[in-house]
Amino acid sequence: MEPILVTGAAGGSQGGTGRTVAETLLRAGLPVRAFVRSDDARTAELEDLGAEVVRGDLREITSVRPAVRGVRRAYFTYPVSAGMLDATAVFAAAAREADLHRVVAVSQLGSAPDAGTPHMRRHWVAEQVLDRAEIGAVHLRAAVFFENLRVAIGDSDVLALPLGSPDTVLPLIAADDVAGVGAGVLRADGPVDSVLWLAGEILTVGEAAEHFGVRYVPVDAEDWAETAITRYRDPVAVEHLTHLWTMFAAIGSGHELFRVTESIEQFTGRPPITLRDHLSRA
Ligand SMILES: NC(=O)c1ccc[n+]([C@@H]2O[C@H](COP(=O)([O-])OP(=O)(O)OC[C@H]3O[C@@H](n4cnc5c(N)ncnc54)[C@H](OP(=O)(O)O)[C@@H]3O)[C@@H](O)[C@H]2O)c1
Repeated sequence: MEPILVTGAAGGSQGGTGRTVAETLLRAGLPVRAFVRSDDARTAELEDLGAEVVRGDLREITSVRPAVRGVRRAYFTYPVSAGMLDATAVFAAAAREADLHRVVAVSQLGSAPDAGTPHMRRHWVAEQVLDRAEIGAVHLRAAVFFENLRVAIGDSDVLALPLGSPDTVLPLIAADDVAGVGAGVLRADGPVDSVLWLAGEILTVGEAAEHFGVRYVPVDAEDWAETAITRYRDPVAVEHLTHLWTMFAAIGSGHELFRVTESIEQFTGRPPITLRDHLSRA
């Protein structure tokens, strides 16, 4: 059987979805080719689990072309960081050449050409590029990861965000549910919709803070952007999030996309992980 290529397989700080997909597939006895950026302890762990590890830069065709050789299915993820469109174009070209027939790609809930953040608009462009490559792209349009709020809190005792009222509504999801759907779609035999919206729980920011056992404190967007770099450590992530929080504050009490989606249960076989479940597992 051909290996399934999993990018982001080492698992980074934003959600580690690639790592969870790789582990889920390996535990199910499926062959995994794990694409990592560099050698470290995470690489050795993947090898111990039975993965074939390949190393490279997703923005570089000389890395990706050999990685897709002999592969039919792949999981594509790239963090909210510079270079996402470069990596997507490279992946689309390589996957087209190698005749892949299913590529599960992580996107964002509000991906659209007129979306409220520059990175969401880039995700929409990325979706178009993957679709045009005709490689069976399935876009996982995910809500805000619970992990994102954890980074925002850091080691403080407040959730300080530019979200205005504590009643501002957030569509949320556990990164493990994104990975669970990704692994499920990669294992599915039949046709799958090309866009899957993924939200596991809808909470107000006040409720979310309460689950974390901290106080929600509304802050000014410009002030937040100035300090967020020390927590998120990436200017593209901070730019995206500053726009995202401002957008949610403007939407306020809800939007038609803010609903728990069936696709999580459909592809994982269990109900979505709630924030309470997520925190009790941590
Ligand atoms: N965070 C949220 O709230 C949220 C919400 C909705 C959707 N999303 C989407 O979720 C996706 C990110 O989630 P994730 O769990 O995959 O993030 P992650 O945990 O940060 O993992 C990213 C992985 O990509 C690897 N990587 C980064 N740059 C690379 C490069 N140039 N070449 C090869 N590998 C590279 C990283 O390796 P190293 O660790 O070695 O650097 C890491 O293993 C994005 O598409 C984002 O838009 C996120």
